[in-house]
Amino acid sequence: MTTSTIRNVSTVLDGTDTLEGAGVRLRRAFGHDIVPRLDPFLLMDHFRSRNPLDYTAGFPWHPHRGIETVTYMLDGSVDHEDSLGHEGSIAPGDIQWMTSGSGILHQEMPRRTEGLLEGFQLWVNMPARAKMSQPAYRGVPSHHIPAVRTDDGASIRVVAGTLGDQKGPVQNEAVDPTYWDVTLPAGAPFEAPTPPGHTVLAYTVGGRVESESPEASTAVGARRTILFGDGDAVQLRAGPDGGRFLFVMGRPLREPVAWWGPIVMNSDAQLREAITELRRGDFIKHGAPVDESL
Ligand code: CO
Repeated sequence: MTTSTIRNVSTVLDGTDTLEGAGVRLRRAFGHDIVPRLDPFLLMDHFRSRNPLDYTAGFPWHPHRGIETVTYMLDGSVDHEDSLGHEGSIAPGDIQWMTSGSGILHQEMPRRTEGLLEGFQLWVNMPARAKMSQPAYRGVPSHHIPAVRTDDGASIRVVAGTLGDQKGPVQNEAVDPTYWDVTLPAGAPFEAPTPPGHTVLAYTVGGRVESESPEASTAVGARRTILFGDGDAVQLRAGPDGGRFLFVMGRPLREPVAWWGPIVMNSDAQLREAITELRRGDFIKHGAPVDESL
């Protein structure tokens, strides 16, 4: 018999309403001010609106270096285009895991003609040794994301990581990420093993989730980030109207973080170099990004 150490809730982050890109209204679940507590994760944005004025200005041409961006759509879509001619659309239920590596120049434009637009973008830091590597895209259409239904009635979409015999379509050796979209019916329990030492968080999308960790019970409403302390398992339970959350884990990189807007490196000198290259026009180091889309 094995005994597990259930992780306590260490912090619940409220997030802040922010204007980003060319004027996109969004909820920043966490970002700059929390580094390095969420290592290897840097930032997560949640955009959710029925008003096109909140998002159609989009995120026109901008660079990235040294990070991965993970875009996951629930409703509406995001048109994506980069400076080397790669383009596509991220539709409801799809994910795009973009490895900027040495550099990508792209734009991301949310699209919806009516109704709700809702999605997320998570930034995952890259290790120093890989920051200047070949850029790549992994576009994963919804039907390639395994959907698992547990005995407790939970339904879980496995974008990254492993659940039972289901393996998510995104792998990454550096941070060994888990990214699940978990929907629980009223009062249903959720339990997951978590590698000790890894960073574990849950971002509540809707409803309410409750933690019954050993030291305190906590009820958390929608649009909050629950950051867990260390341990080898997480236990949550849905509130009386059910709950939906993104469950995210990763191995910390424990490297210095130097951050300028969409570029995240290890030193200020590397940031200055990137900015000089942007000005000079030699920011792009590799040819077209590798397309690993399914
Ligand atoms: Co971008």
